[in-house]
Amino acid sequence: MKLIYYNGFDLPDEGEAFKAIMPQAQVRRWQPGDAAPADYALVWKPPAEMLANRSDLKAIFNLGAGVDALMKMADRIPANVPIIRLEDAGMAEQMADYVSSAVLRYYRHLDDYQRQAMHQRWQPKWPASKQQFTVAVLGLGVLGRVIAKRLQQLQFPVLGWSRTKKNLDGVSCFSGDNELAACLAKARVVVCILPLTTQTTGILNRTTLSALPRSAYVINVGRGAHIVEEDLLALLQNGHLAGATLDVFQTEPLPSGHPLWQQHNVTITPHISAQTLLDDAYVQIAEKINRLDQGLPVSGVIDRNQGY
Ligand code: NAP
Ligand code: GLV
Repeated sequence: MKLIYYNGFDLPDEGEAFKAIMPQAQVRRWQPGDAAPADYALVWKPPAEMLANRSDLKAIFNLGAGVDALMKMADRIPANVPIIRLEDAGMAEQMADYVSSAVLRYYRHLDDYQRQAMHQRWQPKWPASKQQFTVAVLGLGVLGRVIAKRLQQLQFPVLGWSRTKKNLDGVSCFSGDNELAACLAKARVVVCILPLTTQTTGILNRTTLSALPRSAYVINVGRGAHIVEEDLLALLQNGHLAGATLDVFQTEPLPSGHPLWQQHNVTITPHISAQTLLDDAYVQIAEKINRLDQGLPVSGVIDRNQGY
């Protein structure tokens, strides 16, 4: 079995660890011009040339959950080649940790105290009741559901929004574009964990963010292009929004001098809310290759019409 490998992460691994999990695999690092036969491709943000017209591939495995980079080149990838994403593979726990720590930081005013301490100010605030600190999770897929569950365990009321209607224990579920504003209107915090598609690009803009109540918070762990950054900045500056925690940006790394760096009520992290754990990822991919080779179905196959 032959595998081609391209890893756009800044990580040293080039498929070596995969050979330990699947010794029968001949893994080669793809180089420009390599059109030699291959059974599978393992990729993160590859050049389109690597996958263009490769109808010999039995599947392409994305080394992450989001396939937006692959969808940009989907017209060059033969329609018969399934694109398969990572499902959790250690990311859901990381996401739940990241989002719940940001929600708790806002709920307990820890950002405010940090700012006060810079001026040696001692000024206690009383936290609102958790019942008044509702969190809306946009995206109720593999990661969004685990985030919602963790927030419920922390006793926050949780709302969820997805494309198709869901029925989740203890979560008030909304679906479809025409229920988004109603969901946001009830939320003190909105968490975006959507995939980036043509439908979700710019979904958090001046209109939708204005549907949040005054002094709401935004946490974006989906993709930068879900938010219209100029609209977010305007609403942070006019006080409609009290703060934002952003892990993803329209341009990454966030360019130096970008106004978001200067905005006092924005917390910035460098796209780390859930990182691919390569060992977990390789185990999941090896299991799926074994199933595919036996003619069995696998989960995580992208619906190219939906883009996720
Ligand atoms: P998933 O299992 O495919 O879940 C996607 C969810 O979004 C589903 O609930 C889906 O609705 C919903 N959705 C899609 N399009 C929608 C629309 N137009 N309107 C409303 N809801 C819509 O994906 P996942 O594994 O949870 O990952 C989600 C995203 O997280 C990834 O695509 C990636 O962009 C991002 N991510 C970020 C990081 C990071 O480090 N920042 C790490 C991993 C992933 P249905 O349930 O109805 O299909
Ligand atoms: C990371 O952003 C991923 O989509 O896995």
